[in-house]
Amino acid sequence: MFYRGRRLRTSQTIRTMVQETRLSVKNLIYPLFLVEGNNIKKEIPSLKGQYHISIDRLEEEIKEILSLKIPAILLFGLPGYKDDLASNAYDDNGIVQKGIRKIKEIAPDLLVVTDVCLCQYTSHGHCGVLKDGKVLNDPTLELLAKTALSHVKAGADMVAPSDMMDGRVNAIRDILDDEGFEYTPIMSYSVKYASSFYGPFREVADSAPKSGDRKSYQMNPANTNEALMEAEADLMEGADILMVKPALAYQDIIYRLKENFDCPIAAYNVSGEYAMVKAAASQGLIDEKSVVMEMLTGIKRAGADLIITYFAKDAAKYLREE
Ligand code: PBG
Repeated sequence: MFYRGRRLRTSQTIRTMVQETRLSVKNLIYPLFLVEGNNIKKEIPSLKGQYHISIDRLEEEIKEILSLKIPAILLFGLPGYKDDLASNAYDDNGIVQKGIRKIKEIAPDLLVVTDVCLCQYTSHGHCGVLKDGKVLNDPTLELLAKTALSHVKAGADMVAPSDMMDGRVNAIRDILDDEGFEYTPIMSYSVKYASSFYGPFREVADSAPKSGDRKSYQMNPANTNEALMEAEADLMEGADILMVKPALAYQDIIYRLKENFDCPIAAYNVSGEYAMVKAAASQGLIDEKSVVMEMLTGIKRAGADLIITYFAKDAAKYLREE
């Protein structure tokens, strides 16, 4: 006798019944990029199918997201001005804050998560306070905490710090608790690598560092034990959900986090991963739909409970067709 694995592959019915991993729209988070100005819905050249949207055009976008039953969005803002200390990031009338208020008017139940970082708002493009060519850790914490608080005051349901400064989850948890937002969760970009897969995003968000790189704060792609230390520190500091970013080249990290921690794990299927699939599909090299579903299923199978992806709308449609 030998093992006949093919027995349970003989029909679509049986294959579906014994399928181990199932994607659901309920676990997807869709990123949105808000810009100042009026009547703007402009396709982003490096991310075909994704748009820069002004606040007055949010309604149609949010309604589409609701109709697809996508439960959550991750908000990014492109501010009207940048300065050394990223003041638009924590301005109560900043782009993200205005956007949150508008979205909450349109769709009070849509879960609004905000990316908390300074790089889109600093004139130098780094994720923290820059002095003599160095990104200062502790002075940055106060600005990040202020940014998170101002998002939450505007109505954000969850904050997602993506800066990779040490101690930022602690700083954000403290300020939120002090201000009466004990029940606002933090989804931390705990394990964020200094990855080249963010290339298109930096064009999207105009957030590339003007000098140097992010290697003094984002992680070395070669490291995995360090990922566990970062994740553990964030949990101890009060993070509720741990995120791994990017997703595809880091599925072992997603798996290790899932094995080691009992909290929900999120993975960010980043801009470069999206752009690669789009480029290959547009050249007829791969079938976009099946590759997207295989890729997202792989990320989930690795251990991601939540997936942040520019493919959320497409996946929602594909899942509905099934
Ligand atoms: C901000 C931030 C970045 C991304 C999410 N938040 C860029 C970076 O760290 O350089 C990347 C998202 C993507 O590539 O899709 N720090």
